[in-house]
Amino acid sequence: MLYFWNNLISNLKAFNRNKNQIVLPNDFPNGITFSEQYIIVKRNERIKIFSSKCTHLGCRINNSLNDVFICPCHGSKFNSDGEVFKGPAMKNLNELKFKIDKSKNQIIIYT
Ligand code: FES
Repeated sequence: MLYFWNNLISNLKAFNRNKNQIVLPNDFPNGITFSEQYIIVKRNERIKIFSSKCTHLGCRINNSLNDVFICPCHGSKFNSDGEVFKGPAMKNLNELKFKIDKSKNQIIIYT
């Protein structure tokens, strides 16, 4: 089954940031959102967050096509679970831990 995702280049600004975490407004739409150095994949209430830093040589991944993240530098491809399926990258994207603070409608990403 194919999933169709909205691709959105987001200009969301972090509420707060320090060395170990970043706080963003938790208002991501369903689909894929590129925000700063993160890729947020939201499917209904399920969220996964990945570093957008390609595991090959570190280029920023900021685009997707048909649910596939494509590195602009050398063309590595990752599925929406962050799994690499076309090199030259050999490792999956780094999945990040996060916490949702519903009282403040914020998402705290641990970097
Ligand atoms: S840096 Fe992404 S494929 Fe080379």
